[in-house]
Amino acid sequence: MCVRTVWVGLLGLLAVSGIATTQGASYCSVNTFTTNSSWMQYTKEPVPLEYGFEDKFKSIHCCVKGYRSIEWFKDGVAYPWSAGVSNLILYPEAANQTLYARRAARADSGNYTCRLSNETHVFTHTVKLSILEKPTDTPRTMFISQDQWVEEGAELRLYCEALIGRSLLADARSDLRWRKVFPNSTEGDLLPTQTEIKTTREDVEDIIGSYLTVDRVSAQDYGTYVCVVHSNDVVSKNFVTVHYRYGGADDGSNSSWCGSGAVPWRALALGAAAGALALVSAAALHRRCTPRLLLAARHARARAQPTARRARVLEKEFDVLVCWTAVDGELVRGALLPTLALKYKYRVHAVPLSTQPDTWYSELVGEASRCRSLVAVLSPAQHSPQQLLTALRQLRALPLPPVVVLLQDLPKLKREAKEGGESLVTTLRGTRLVAWRHVHERAFWTALRLALPLPPAHHDTKPIPNETEDNKYSRSGSLTALV
Ligand SMILES: *[C@@H]1O[C@H](CO)[C@@H](O)[C@H](O)[C@H]1NC(C)=O
Ligand SMILES: *[C@@H]1O[C@H](CO)[C@@H](O)[C@H](O)[C@H]1NC(C)=O
Ligand SMILES: *[C@@H]1O[C@H](CO)[C@@H](O)[C@H](O)[C@H]1NC(C)=O
Ligand SMILES: *[C@@H]1O[C@H](CO)[C@@H](O)[C@H](O)[C@H]1NC(C)=O
Ligand SMILES: *[C@@H]1O[C@H](CO)[C@@H](O)[C@H](O)[C@H]1NC(C)=O
Ligand SMILES: *[C@@H]1O[C@H](CO)[C@@H](O)[C@H](O)[C@H]1NC(C)=O
Ligand SMILES: *[C@@H]1O[C@H](CO)[C@@H](O)[C@H](O)[C@H]1NC(C)=O
Repeated sequence: MCVRTVWVGLLGLLAVSGIATTQGASYCSVNTFTTNSSWMQYTKEPVPLEYGFEDKFKSIHCCVKGYRSIEWFKDGVAYPWSAGVSNLILYPEAANQTLYARRAARADSGNYTCRLSNETHVFTHTVKLSILEKPTDTPRTMFISQDQWVEEGAELRLYCEALIGRSLLADARSDLRWRKVFPNSTEGDLLPTQTEIKTTREDVEDIIGSYLTVDRVSAQDYGTYVCVVHSNDVVSKNFVTVHYRYGGADDGSNSSWCGSGAVPWRALALGAAAGALALVSAAALHRRCTPRLLLAARHARARAQPTARRARVLEKEFDVLVCWTAVDGELVRGALLPTLALKYKYRVHAVPLSTQPDTWYSELVGEASRCRSLVAVLSPAQHSPQQLLTALRQLRALPLPPVVVLLQDLPKLKREAKEGGESLVTTLRGTRLVAWRHVHERAFWTALRLALPLPPAHHDTKPIPNETEDNKYSRSGSLTALV
């Protein structure tokens, strides 16, 4: 009898230390950042809040590499601790990055600080541990990534972790997941390129988390995400916004702009516009006539192949998607749209954009699929050069190559402008720009029409059954042209 009790006790002890070993060991070695550099650095997101339950196993961590020494303090008292301070002990097999208690007590709650140092630097990270009596009802967020500034093509990683309550009710759900917030403020599923990796903890099963990763960020990945946590019937949401970051410079948004002009912006804009036109290289001689001749030639060619052309035209509902922001609304609605629709007979789809360009891609991509071409109206003076670059990148990520109508000259740029400036210049060079001068300026309309596909011939269009706000410019009927 007595022997048997001892054996059971021993086996129990072995089992417990076995759990302790596995529960402590793996946390810092899974889901780590993918970096090769060996400097002292955190190897995963340092979590500032931790929860455990009375009499249950609990471990906390500081996951770091490249350090020379690590020390732990609880509420300012250095490790090792007397029983009155904390029951948590170091786990040397995890290079002292982990503290654990087999049976946590309420008194173990407190602020645990790890202090890491190499020869030149010191990092400290504090984990506020709360040992609870019973499971919670409302979810408690333990970690949520801050807003990020990410370069196009770089990697994105967001993390969210929370303590949830698990219900005994079968129909109440408890989970945590990432969703995308669309520009119209609705939430939707992630895109296939946006991967979600769910995490659990070995020590406390009520702690769940999720990574959202993108290998190479592109225009569609910018914008806001939300980490939605359901805990029984309580929902909690945490939002994170991913912004554009430019050209590897340390400062995300400022820097070397707006000096005295050394880059010939106007020449650049006009040059690019001309580039769109200059399919014929002798343009210099016929600066006035050539574009019109080209346009006339296109019309003639189109008339020669009516059937093929008609099929092409009718593939899409609209010929031109015109988009603009509020500041340009008057000019677009008053001059551009009526002229395109009534005088030149394009079927026009009108899409107002939000003021900030970060989400233009998502705002336009669905609408663009209904159209044969895209015209974006921009007032460069309304945007910082960085916003302008964002705007162009968002537009150029769309399946239709954008034709950009510039309502003012482009901003001036310092000669020594670094990468941000360079990439704006490069992006502008690769974009079809048409400079707006005046509604009556024929050269503008010729340039714009040359950059667009031909509108349908009269017999191409079917009557449009429904007159909504969206398509009231689409009619190519017999209304008198305004211009
Ligand atoms: C890290 O190292 C691996 C192989 O050792 C290599 O394939 C990878 O490109 C490196 N990553 C970086 C960011 O240097
Ligand atoms: C110490 O760590 C910092 C931060 O990672 C790093 O910048 C520095 O170079 C490291 N010092 C040494 C001597 O390795
Ligand atoms: C871990 O802590 C123990 C006791 O404080 C110490 O002797 C040992 O050197 C530490 N190991 C590391 C890798 O810091
Ligand atoms: C732990 O830190 C938080 C915030 O720094 C503070 O409000 C709290 O009082 C601290 N707890 C203890 C036990 O010192
Ligand atoms: C909001 O936008 C998304 C994507 O752009 C779209 O799928 C969704 O239908 C829109 N919802 C509403 C209510 O407009
Ligand atoms: C941008 O630069 C201005 C002046 O140089 C400065 O006051 C401002 O704080 C900077 N903004 C950012 C986000 O760096
Ligand atoms: C216009 O469209 C709406 C919905 O798209 C439809 O319910 C309505 O009957 C249409 N009106 C006409 C005149 O076709």
